[in-house]
Amino acid sequence: MERMAELTMELPADHPGVSDEDYLARRAHIAEVGRRYRPGDPIPEVHYSAEEDQVWATVSAELAQLHQRFACAEVRDGSERLALPKNRVPQLHEVDARTRQLSDFRIRPVPGLVPTREFYGSLAERTFLSTQYIRHHSVPFYTPEPDIVHEIIGHATMLASPRLADLYEQAGRASLRATSDEALDFFSRVFWFTLEFGVLHEDGPDGDQVRAYGAGLLSSYGEIQVFRDAEIRPWDIQAMGTTTYDITQYQPVLFAAESMDAVLEDLGAFFDSYDDDTYRRNHA
Ligand SMILES: [Fe+2]
Repeated sequence: MERMAELTMELPADHPGVSDEDYLARRAHIAEVGRRYRPGDPIPEVHYSAEEDQVWATVSAELAQLHQRFACAEVRDGSERLALPKNRVPQLHEVDARTRQLSDFRIRPVPGLVPTREFYGSLAERTFLSTQYIRHHSVPFYTPEPDIVHEIIGHATMLASPRLADLYEQAGRASLRATSDEALDFFSRVFWFTLEFGVLHEDGPDGDQVRAYGAGLLSSYGEIQVFRDAEIRPWDIQAMGTTTYDITQYQPVLFAAESMDAVLEDLGAFFDSYDDDTYRRNHA
């Protein structure tokens, strides 16, 4: 999900783990692994607790079922190729090894939220910056922030597709050319309505259905079941870039592409041509 503007370990007052000292200590410990990591080093192991492994097992089993009904074919294929562990939290080094092999994309640990430009900019180097902590065990199907379930079941699953991995790199390159805050803001909204919350039409056994390809939907137990109730608008990059969104609630508006090929073609073309000038020309 979109990274907040500053690196912070403080949890908001309504975070389910905010008053659980053991949870806070675990987060601090896991964050430290990310903080100490330097690019080029082997990615260190995080020793997850049995409780944390159980959260992963519970959520990943449910999401795997839901993906069969609600995720698009490109994602379901990617998920099969990625073959994540079912009963324990995956180690980033093993996911990184898989995505390198499948699509030449790297996963790197970070301690927590990183600055927006750093997060997007790393994509240009085919590198995804990933948090490693997991949501609080009291509410396994909810997280107010991106956790390892979101990063891996959402984003890494997409990155198992070489075509989608290329799109992430194209997005990263576009972000580097969007040097003004306004141009980056427009880009961020397009990223949100596509790589985070994108949906598309897909013909399947049940006829034409709207299915999810964005990481935010793929990793959300609640939202993936109800996103078809949102107002589904036709594909329109200009509208995406100017539509505001609220990260704290289910998205009331989504934009549907005609197909995965259309996503790759239209969004790829947008990213490839995007810079401060194209933003200015379209908003003169
Ligand atoms: Fe995300």
